[in-house]
Order: sequence, then structure tokens, then C-alpha cells
Amino acid sequence: MSNDWQNLYSQNIKDFGGYSIGKIFKYLNNPDIISLAGGLPSPDMFQKAEMQLASRKDLEHSIEKVMQYTSIPGEQKLLDAIINFLQRDQININQDNILITSSGQHGLDLTGRLFLDPGDLIIIDRPTFAGAIVAFQMQRPEIIGIDLEPDGINIDQYRATLVKMKEKGKLPKFMYVIPDFQNPSGITTTLEKRLALLNLSYEFGVPIIEDSPYRDLRYRGKTIPSIFALDQDRQGNHVIGLYTFSKLFCPGMRVGFNIGPPEIIAKMTNIKEANILNTPKYNQDMCTAFLTEMDLEAHLEKCRHYYREKLDVFLQTMEEHFPPETGVTWTKPEGGLFLWVSVPEKFDTNELFYEAIKYKVAFVPGEVFYAESAARNHMRINFSYASKEQLAEAVKRLARCIKDKLKDG
Ligand SMILES: Cc1ncc(COP(=O)(O)O)c(C=O)c1O
Repeated sequence: MSNDWQNLYSQNIKDFGGYSIGKIFKYLNNPDIISLAGGLPSPDMFQKAEMQLASRKDLEHSIEKVMQYTSIPGEQKLLDAIINFLQRDQININQDNILITSSGQHGLDLTGRLFLDPGDLIIIDRPTFAGAIVAFQMQRPEIIGIDLEPDGINIDQYRATLVKMKEKGKLPKFMYVIPDFQNPSGITTTLEKRLALLNLSYEFGVPIIEDSPYRDLRYRGKTIPSIFALDQDRQGNHVIGLYTFSKLFCPGMRVGFNIGPPEIIAKMTNIKEANILNTPKYNQDMCTAFLTEMDLEAHLEKCRHYYREKLDVFLQTMEEHFPPETGVTWTKPEGGLFLWVSVPEKFDTNELFYEAIKYKVAFVPGEVFYAESAARNHMRINFSYASKEQLAEAVKRLARCIKDKLKDG
């Protein structure tokens, strides 16, 4: 038995290697290295006293219930709080439209399991969130990427791809997008492009999966309606929304929610029943407290101010250290936690990563954000976790590293 495990693996898992980003994390434990690699919100934004109070109250008042199995769709109080939370954002739904998930990643997993058979087509952005790629890859779909432009997805390419697929008689199961402060690029899709994507969704009968972890973290510019809200205005029923508490509250709770048509939510609930049963009541209660007892708007305003300052330090230091002749360019996000740096094409950021480690700075090489034909001269930068001083120092180290490599030819 000892060496035959591989023969027993399911077809879906046999060649599945998981999250390839994992192999870089071993370099990040060195405290001398400034890491711009993770997707971590800052613990400075954790409401520590409020969390302790909510936790104590929860355990003191109802430990018997808190430590028990609980309902699969989610706690009533949290569902109610989410309905109110979304109303602020022009989304009007009721509890049949919501499933509590155990994180955004779980929401993606449920989506993949619900829709995909091996060989099915799906459309994603090039680049897009690596966690979404791996979640969908578990079902072995064929993934087609559409280029991202500074104002969002490339609609012409989307249309051409859908037309070609239709001609071949096989449309994608869904289109996955992150319209607000996209991970990894920080790019926001304009209202015109959101409406155009929705039109494509109606024309071709392909649903949209809209992933929105960063939507409330806007630091400048005007909020653009979510695709879910735009679809609701038109009574389209074509959009499923994925949300998480990880970036606004804290990732440690592992709580999120999916919203969509009742039949989709019911099916996802069946899958959740089989894959994790319920999301812990304690974690849900903490999220309810976050939405209803912790002065949500004041907290969000504090986060926006705090992250905006960090982003500005990063962008300003980039301006100072990367003059146009370096050939280095970067996105200028209006919110979120990430930006996307492009270096001259002669660089492969997988290799540059190891060079940068020598200069004691780390980023995520861009390749992991592509499902196919990856571009190799990009990197994802996280600006939320490191301090402002570290961010400025990290840019200087990166500049030294890249300029030294440019000198070497
Ligand atoms: C676009 C996107 N979706 C989903 C997630 C997953 O969120 P969670 O940490 O709640 O699993 C992330 C996390 O970085 C993300 O960036």
C-alpha cells in the first residue's frame, strides 16, 4: 500500500497542486525582509477592545448555543444585519438570497462546485485573484482569460470571445469579475463597462460572478454601483455576489456570504451541508456584532483614512525612485489593498523575486494570477500591511534591485 496512493486520487485532484503562491512564503519569515506579498489587512485596523467585549458577551450569555451545531444557511441575526448592510449599497434582498459562507474562499469553492464539470468553459480576467483560479481549477474547467485594461475588463475582447464560443456551440458557465479595486491589479471597472458586461450576460445568457471583498475600501473617487445592484435594477437575476468579512473586519473569523437567486442559494446550501455543514456560530456572532455594535461607518472611515495614507506613501516613493527611463510602470488604485507593478519585459518576476529577497524586499510574482499564457513581467504589491516607513524603504530596496539588474544588462 505504501507507494500506491497516486493511483487512488480522484481525477479532479490527481494533477492539482494547490496554491502555487505557497512556495514563496518560506522566505517571508525573515524579519529583515519587508514583505509586500501577503493580502493581509493591517492588524492596526482590528477593533481589539470591541472584539473582546463582543466575544465576552457572546460566551457569557449563550455559551451553550454558541458552542453547538447551528443552522446551515446562517444565523438569523447575521442574515438580518447583512440585509441592512447591503441596503446601504442599493442592494435589496431577503434571506432567501443569502448563504453565510466560511470565508470568501469558501464562496468561490461553492461556486465552482455548483457550476463546473471537467472541460466546462469559464471566463476570468487576465490577471485575476489566484485563489479564485485554484478554487475553480479543482473542477478542471477550461479557463479563458480576458485582458484587463486601466478602466476595467476589455469588453470588445469579451464579446469576441463569447461570439466565438457561441459559434462553436459551447458557452461559458460563468464570467468571474472583481470590479472594485481588483486583486491583483487594483483596477476598478467603470460604470460603462459594468453595464456593457451585464448586456453581454443578458445577450449570451451567461451569469456573472461578482467578487467584492474590497468594495467598501474606496479611498478616492466616487462609488460605482455594483453589477449586482445594476442587474437588480433591471430585474435580470444574472449575477451572484461573493462577499467576505476578511478585509473589513478580520480574516481570522473566516466568514463571508454569497448572494443570488433563491434557487442558487438553495443549491449552494446543499453543497455547504455536505462540505462543512455550518459556519461556527461564534464567528457569525462576532460578524453580527461588527455590523451592528461596532460603529461600522466610523470603522470604515478609519480604515479608508489609514490605508489611503499608506497607498499615498507607496505611490509617492515610486514616483521618486522609478523615473520613466527605468521602464517600470504601476497602477494607481482608488481603493483596495493591492497594486500592480510592471517591469521591462526582459525581466521574469519569478527570477526577480529571488534577487529582491537579496535586497530584503518581497512581492508576489505576477505569474500566479494567470490561468493560462501568463505574463512574466509583473508583480503584485500589497500596501496595507507594512508600515508607512517600511513601504517607503521597500520601494527604495526594489528600486536598487531593479536598477542594479538594469545596469547588469
Ligand atoms: C478577490 C478575492 N476574493 C476572495 C478572497 C478570499 O477571501 P477570504 O480571505 O475571506 O477567503 C480574496 C482574498 O484575498 C480576494 O482577494
